[in-house]
Amino acid sequence: MALTIKPIQPTFAGEVSGVDLTRPLSPQDVVAIDEGMNRFAVLVFHGQTIDDEQQLAFTRSLGEIELAVGTSLRAPSEYRLPTTFADVSNLDQNHQVFARDDRRRLFAIGNRLWHSDSSFKVIPAKYSLLHARAIPSKGGNTEFAYMPAAYEALDAETKAEVEELICEHSQIFSRQQLGFTDFTDEERVRFKPVLQRLVRVHPGTGRKSLYLSSHAGSIVGWPVPEARFFLRDLTEHATQREFVYSHRWRVGDLVMWDNRQTMHRARPFPAHEPRDMRRTTLKGDGPTVAQAAA
Ligand SMILES: [Fe+2]
Repeated sequence: MALTIKPIQPTFAGEVSGVDLTRPLSPQDVVAIDEGMNRFAVLVFHGQTIDDEQQLAFTRSLGEIELAVGTSLRAPSEYRLPTTFADVSNLDQNHQVFARDDRRRLFAIGNRLWHSDSSFKVIPAKYSLLHARAIPSKGGNTEFAYMPAAYEALDAETKAEVEELICEHSQIFSRQQLGFTDFTDEERVRFKPVLQRLVRVHPGTGRKSLYLSSHAGSIVGWPVPEARFFLRDLTEHATQREFVYSHRWRVGDLVMWDNRQTMHRARPFPAHEPRDMRRTTLKGDGPTVAQAAA
């Protein structure tokens, strides 16, 4: 059966059928998925009962994996998964749900703010692939905002204003918005800001989009409160319902998104229930603006 993609909504997000992710992809499947990602930005694969090795093999067939090292408050001895995975579960290394006041959990609540994965890295992520192993009884949707449409809907004056702007991104900025400021000196160094353009041109489609993320906390050359307000205003614009697809998870779903043309956020769910989501990530091609390597 050939791989097919049918639109979930008219503007973006597609549902893929005719592919079994437990098996190697054919070269034609790889091309179809890459073209599908350019066109849809979010692809949903239902009913994929894959293990870690199969998720890694599928991810590697599409590009180079971005490692998750030092990006959370888990110490290396507390990792539940290998560093080829970003552990976006609420589980500790013994597969127990974090206590409500555990700072690793509170830091991870930052994923409920609109963001683009790894925008706090000099080379930000290309695709993210999130697989649902265990889901809560309610809540926990992931929502996606389609940034080329958000860009195109700006008025001409705002397009001109954002064109050359450079933002500073750090996980410290996103957590500040939630009142989480409890960082050690080592974490403050590790999470030091990086630069990202506010307008990106997608290499696969040639379309411009807003490169927003809650990690963005300042605009180079702007007073901070004015920058924060401007970024908040753009985020409100970009996350209007007409630009958003909300994914309601089923166990076995794999959802893949293009971080270069979407933002996403997780929605709340009951704190005591396990939510085991495993993310693999493809590395981006390069920085969006020249700067010293991290
Ligand atoms: Fe994320």
